[in-house]
Amino acid sequence: MTVREATLIPGDGIGPEITAATLQVIDALRVKFDWDEEYGGMAAVEKAGTPLPNATLDSIRRTRLCLKGPLTTPVGGGYRSVNVAMRQEFDLYANVRPTKTIVPGGRYEHVDLVIIRENTEGLYVGLDHTFKIGGDRRAMAQAMSIVTREGSERIARYAFEYAKLHGRKKVTIVHKANILKATSGLFLEVSKRVAEQYAGAIACDDKIVDNTAMQLVIRPEQFDVIVTTNLFGDILSDEAAGLIGGLGLAPGANIGTHAAIFEPVHGSAPDIAGKGIANPSAQMLAAAMMLDHVGELEAAKRLRCALEATIVKDRIRTPDLGGRAPTAEFARAVVKRVRT
Ligand code: NAI
Ligand code: MG
Repeated sequence: MTVREATLIPGDGIGPEITAATLQVIDALRVKFDWDEEYGGMAAVEKAGTPLPNATLDSIRRTRLCLKGPLTTPVGGGYRSVNVAMRQEFDLYANVRPTKTIVPGGRYEHVDLVIIRENTEGLYVGLDHTFKIGGDRRAMAQAMSIVTREGSERIARYAFEYAKLHGRKKVTIVHKANILKATSGLFLEVSKRVAEQYAGAIACDDKIVDNTAMQLVIRPEQFDVIVTTNLFGDILSDEAAGLIGGLGLAPGANIGTHAAIFEPVHGSAPDIAGKGIANPSAQMLAAAMMLDHVGELEAAKRLRCALEATIVKDRIRTPDLGGRAPTAEFARAVVKRVRT
């Protein structure tokens, strides 16, 4: 049996709970990882005095593969987002977030879309400053958005290649080029040029982001693959998660040329941390994406099937999905499904 080295960051808040549940399922699948457990975020501040210790970065540099829980980022002041820092450090330019209906009887039955978000540029480059005017130290604020031809080209290409590989039919380029003529305009122009190379194989259209937000609520079935810039992708992927029953079901992958980090879309959920009721599905589905990534396609499929059977057939659900099962009970049920 192949044993792969991988970095494990359980994370903050509900992170350790959903990660423990996920490891049980991976064990049951009989896929072996040699986990190097490291810290990040609040847990790292407590243990090492910094939110992103060198040991964590060194580990990912070595393993090039990481399963990660959510990390707490202070709002407003405090340290910079560790997630954003890691994405930039390893040039994890593609953020892939699939959204698919699992729970029947929800508001939408046939959602099956993937949002591919540019992960290193846009408004998330960290050029966000306040300025002093007169006696007011924070009289004015300015953020800079960086969009490059190269960055737009590689994410557009990633989206079309992803569509091809996964048998998807259409890529929608989402932008705000009517207002942000330079930044969003460049992204649109470059993406459309890439689309031409896939003409006949993958359909392509484009939509302005505000209209996309509305269309997602009115008729989400019309979307297949969406490719967009960093901030729009962040917002739309949470919205998409909401269509299918919430953040507890939404996984994400951060893919670069030299490393890949898999994580849930949601955060550390401080409101329910330590209560044992968090939904570990997003983290389990992130693990499934990681299994796909390393070529364990069969194990990934078994994981997804077991999870779906637990929720749909066994009707075992955590409170966020209207159920009563604690995290541990849900995990046991998925493990049982994996074994049958
Ligand atoms: P959040 O995603 O942690 O929580 C939003 C709401 O969804 C809460 O009511 C929470 O209880 C619920 N929720 C989230 N995941 C759930 C799960 N697995 N099961 C059941 N309910 C779940 O977002 P929030 O509160 O805005 O952020 C909390 C912290 O997480 C912040 O410090 C933020 O910066 C960080 N964060 C980290 C991310 C990451 O590490 N990739 C992503 C998003 C936020
Ligand atoms: Mg987000």
